[in-house]
Amino acid sequence: MTRRTDQLKLGAFLANSGHHVAAWRHPLAQADASQDFEHFKRIAQTAERGKFDALFVADVVALWGHHHDALSRTARAEHFEPLTLMAALAAVTSRIGLIATATTTYNEPYHIARKFASLDHLSKGRAAWNLVTSVVSDEAWNFGRQDHVDHGDRYQRAGEFHDVVRGLWDSWDDDAFVRDKASGQYFDAAKLHVLNHQGTHFSVRGPLNVARSPQGHPVLVQAGASEPGKALAARVADVIFAVDSDLTRAKAFYADIKARAAAFGRDPDSIKILPGITPFIGETREQAQALFEEFQALIDPVLGLRLLADTLGDDIDLAGHDLDGPLPETPVGQRGSRRDKVLELARTENLSIRQLYLRLAGGNPVIGTAQDIADTFEAWFQGRACDGFNVFFPYFPGAIDVFVEQVTPELQRRGLFRKEYEGTTLRDSLGLARPANRFSVAS
Ligand SMILES: Cc1cc2nc3c(=O)[nH]c(=O)nc-3n(C[C@H](O)[C@H](O)[C@H](O)COP(=O)(O)O)c2cc1C
Repeated sequence: MTRRTDQLKLGAFLANSGHHVAAWRHPLAQADASQDFEHFKRIAQTAERGKFDALFVADVVALWGHHHDALSRTARAEHFEPLTLMAALAAVTSRIGLIATATTTYNEPYHIARKFASLDHLSKGRAAWNLVTSVVSDEAWNFGRQDHVDHGDRYQRAGEFHDVVRGLWDSWDDDAFVRDKASGQYFDAAKLHVLNHQGTHFSVRGPLNVARSPQGHPVLVQAGASEPGKALAARVADVIFAVDSDLTRAKAFYADIKARAAAFGRDPDSIKILPGITPFIGETREQAQALFEEFQALIDPVLGLRLLADTLGDDIDLAGHDLDGPLPETPVGQRGSRRDKVLELARTENLSIRQLYLRLAGGNPVIGTAQDIADTFEAWFQGRACDGFNVFFPYFPGAIDVFVEQVTPELQRRGLFRKEYEGTTLRDSLGLARPANRFSVAS
């Protein structure tokens, strides 16, 4: 395989006290980070100093689950609305991209088109929309429904939602606003385009009440790994936020998406695939391992059992069982592949209940020195398993400081990462073309 000469794309995942589920309890983390703008500002400025492509904020429009006893042991019950946070961060940064998550299931396209176009203007071309279809079913209860919208329907709606949003982003030619004081003409009506969308889910006339934004279209990020998720991503995404922690599976996902993109007539290099990864960094491997174990030890069993129940299903009652004993006998092949995978893991590695939930909670850690982390990044990148990473920092603010001081220079030394931003917009950083306006092209 020929050696790649392009460079890694890196996202910095913003998560209150840190990405690790028990981060807020650790002495290195700030427990009350979620409502502290200074905290986010410091992280954003550090990420920009480290030349990260973008900041990334996930979102749920509900509490992150309704098992309050378990939730009360995490820092996940409060988080800022992503676009509001990103608008504030736009004012204290100048180059880094701002990726905010918004669901297509419980929003309207006009709102989303308008908000992201506004963020793109406010940030001078750094906005990105992470299009999701909602993972937490409790959201339904906040939007007049008893049940979550079905998976297939969510994706159908998402496809049409996306098309409407992009259509609205083309409401104006780039030079539509002439603002000519002498003639008295503020905009040129010939350069205004009415979408007139009539579809299955939406009826949207348009036009948008925001001028075409600096990037033309804010960058489109997509996260979803099912068949319809991949099909949508291959058609519309500029960036895919992926989840695979296994190198072989990640390579297969990468090849699959790039081939699907080509089948849509797209240049496969114009989609950047970024899996999430959690680095635990130490001066030595032993130190890094000890740090990881410190965080794992802070996971309360009530929370650990809930994480397990969320994967295995509530029908397996673990309450009366010894945490250091095996899982009760559970039939496989009945409730989906993720559950079976976890049951299989417990069986083949002979894991106790506690070991199993710790494994789930630990996520996808890469544990080692800065050199080790850079080696892993390089192997995945050169092996065409990804185009970069969405970095989950286990705790804030310290973990991003360590990354920027130790890993970033190592990646730069290897020629794998930029030393300076390529331009001023997120599209410049990602090497993505600015889309033409469909209406101006057509006329
Ligand atoms: C890496 C990743 C990140 C996601 N982030 C969010 C999120 O922040 N908010 C949300 O509501 N859904 C999120 N989702 C959920 C997806 O949008 C989708 O609803 C869910 O994964 C089911 O789709 P799938 O079967 O295609 O994976 C995420 C999914 C993935 C794979």
